[in-house]
Amino acid sequence: MTATMPTHSDNRALIGRDEINDLDEILAITNTDRDETIHHVQNHADTIYTWNYDKGERPALNKLYEKAKNAQWNGETDLPWDTDVDPEKVIAENAIANAGVASDASSMRALGGPFAKLSDEDYLRFGIESNIWTLSQFLHGEQGALVCTAKIVETVPWIDAKYYASTQVMDEARHVEVFAKYLQDKWGGHYPVNAHLKMLLDDIVNDTRWDMTYLGMQIMVEGLALAAFGFMQQMTTEPLLKKLLRYVMSDEARHVAFGVLSLREYYAELSDAEIFERQQFAFEAGVRMRDRFLQQEVWERMGMNVKEAIECTLAVPERELFQMMLFSKIVPNAKKLGLLDRNNSWLRRRYEELGVIQFEDLVDTGNEYENFSLEQIAAEDAKAAAGA
Ligand SMILES: [Fe+2]
Ligand SMILES: [Fe+2]
Repeated sequence: MTATMPTHSDNRALIGRDEINDLDEILAITNTDRDETIHHVQNHADTIYTWNYDKGERPALNKLYEKAKNAQWNGETDLPWDTDVDPEKVIAENAIANAGVASDASSMRALGGPFAKLSDEDYLRFGIESNIWTLSQFLHGEQGALVCTAKIVETVPWIDAKYYASTQVMDEARHVEVFAKYLQDKWGGHYPVNAHLKMLLDDIVNDTRWDMTYLGMQIMVEGLALAAFGFMQQMTTEPLLKKLLRYVMSDEARHVAFGVLSLREYYAELSDAEIFERQQFAFEAGVRMRDRFLQQEVWERMGMNVKEAIECTLAVPERELFQMMLFSKIVPNAKKLGLLDRNNSWLRRRYEELGVIQFEDLVDTGNEYENFSLEQIAAEDAKAAAGA
């Protein structure tokens, strides 16, 4: 059957507002319980046992599992935690190193509006807050991955996938551990979870269908994370963070591959109506993730008018590069899974509306994990040492 195509008015049902870019509606979603330390979500999925123990029935997943066993690292002992991190110095050095790519104090002042009178001290403070905020959302996303992948161990019907997912649970525990330690020890703490990210994580845990955990987490959240970690890893001058992100990326690339390799098989068998539900979810998740990157909580903490500040930053030319970074892994992976073009290209048209379709032909992440491996880190370190 052919699914009924939704119209513009369906946006309200999917994302809670009619216009994707309605800033007032986006900012109306805020974290109402910032002091919350325990958060309950109902998990509606069935736990599934399989009595078929034929290891290697899915060779690509088996290969990934064998790789993962040999790719474990220790967050306590493999990272240079004795590195001295001076937040103001890091922000100032990043601004110099990334001149022309990222905003510096004078280019922010040139935006005018609420930034016209931004002092150099304000700029440093904004840089520090923004860095803490970004890393904090990485931290919360990592906990989302920890919980979601434990859910996959329970809900996926294939033994090779259960085996692989169990290694990812360990990986994610390590990621939560290192981001939490880094933020606490070097930057003095973290921001609460952003409301848009929390809505997405809640939706993923809530869902009854096992593949939706993969689609929400491995394809969308981790696809974005892999790209965002890579971007930050290139931009930062802080050596401990550079190394931490590089180690985390060596795992993340495998995780995204896990999503692509698992869903490719499953989605080939689904009806148009079932695929349509996945397309809608991929659209909703894309919007939530884009909304969260407006970092509304930073402007709030800076004591600025949040809407004015965001309107101003949306106009900066680097925004295009940033958008590219966010969706550069997601869109090619959605294409590979057949999500872009099934049902008269419904998701293609929605991603056009989001302004991200141009990344559809970038490399997908089914096999890219080899390039991010721990062996590659050793080779990169050796090359750097030889050049020093
Ligand atoms: Fe992770
Ligand atoms: Fe991950």
